[in-house]
Amino acid sequence: MKMLRKAVFPVAGLGTRFLPATKAMPKEMLTIVDRPLIQYAVEEALEAGIEQLIFVTGRNKTALEDHFDIAYELEAVMKGRGKSLDILAGTRLPAGAIASVRQQEPLGLGHAIWCAREIVGDEPFAVLLPDDLMVGRSGRPGCLAQMVEAYERVGGNIVCVEQVPPEKSASYGIITPGARDGPLTEVRGLVEKPKPEEAPSNLGIVGRYILQPEVMRVLDNPVRGAGGEIQLTDAMAQLIGRQPFHGLTVEAERHDCGDKIGFVKANLALALKREDVAPAIRAFIATLQ
Ligand code: G1P
Repeated sequence: MKMLRKAVFPVAGLGTRFLPATKAMPKEMLTIVDRPLIQYAVEEALEAGIEQLIFVTGRNKTALEDHFDIAYELEAVMKGRGKSLDILAGTRLPAGAIASVRQQEPLGLGHAIWCAREIVGDEPFAVLLPDDLMVGRSGRPGCLAQMVEAYERVGGNIVCVEQVPPEKSASYGIITPGARDGPLTEVRGLVEKPKPEEAPSNLGIVGRYILQPEVMRVLDNPVRGAGGEIQLTDAMAQLIGRQPFHGLTVEAERHDCGDKIGFVKANLALALKREDVAPAIRAFIATLQ
C-alpha cells in the first residue's frame, strides 16, 4: 500500500453564499475566532502526515498562498516591537510544501480535483473541503488522522460519513451502505444530492476523502451529473467493486461553514473551547438571554 503524502484543497469557489464579504476576499479566508478556514484544514492535513498540499485555486485567490508564505515586513515590525512570532507558527510550512494549480472554470468538484492530476501523479491522495471544519472530539486526533488510521488497515478509498437529516439529502453525496465493521461501513453505491425519497440511506459524505489515483482516470472522461456539474461522487462510484471502498464515521465535530448559520455557530463553538476568549464570550452570551 502506498503511503498517503498528498492532499488536494479545492479552493476555487466564488463564495457567493457569503457575499458581500467574499466580493474581494476568498471565502476560505473567512475567520473562525482568529484563524482563516483554510488554516484549520491545512493544520488537520499536516497532523495526518500530509507532506504536499495542493491548492486548486481560481482568480482572486492569491491571499490563500500569501497566508502560508513568509511576511517579511510584518515579521520585521513584530520583532522590532519585541513581539513573539509564535502566533504565525501554523502559517509557516516547509519550503515547497504548497503547490497550486488553477481551475479556470467552475465546472464542479470532480473537475476541480482533476485539475490537480499531474501534481497528484500515481499516488493515493486526500481531499479536504475547507468549508467543512472538523474538530476531533476531546483527546482524539483530527478527522483526516482518524481516516489515515483506517486507511492503513483497509486501504482503497475512504470517505468520511455522518448521519444527515433525511430532508437534507439533496445537499450531500449519499452512500448505499453494505457490511459494517465498527466505524467503517462498506460503500456499495454512491449518489450525489438525491431527493429524500430517492436517498439510499441517511449516511452523507462530509468533506474529507482518501482516494486512489484511478479516480483521475475516470475523470479523464467527465460526465455531467447533479446540477449539470462534473461530480466527484459520480467518479468515485465507478471505483466501487474495483477497489476497496469504505465510509468512516469519525469522532469529530463537524461545522458546516458553507453557510452563514453554520459559520456563526462555528465561531461560537470554537471560541467557547478557547481558554483565552471563552470566559468573556460566555459572560457575553449570558447577557443576551
Ligand atoms: C460536496 C460534495 C458532496 C459532499 C459535500 C460535503 O458538495 O459534492 O458529495 O457531501 O461536498 O460537504 P457541496 O457542498 O460542494 O455542494
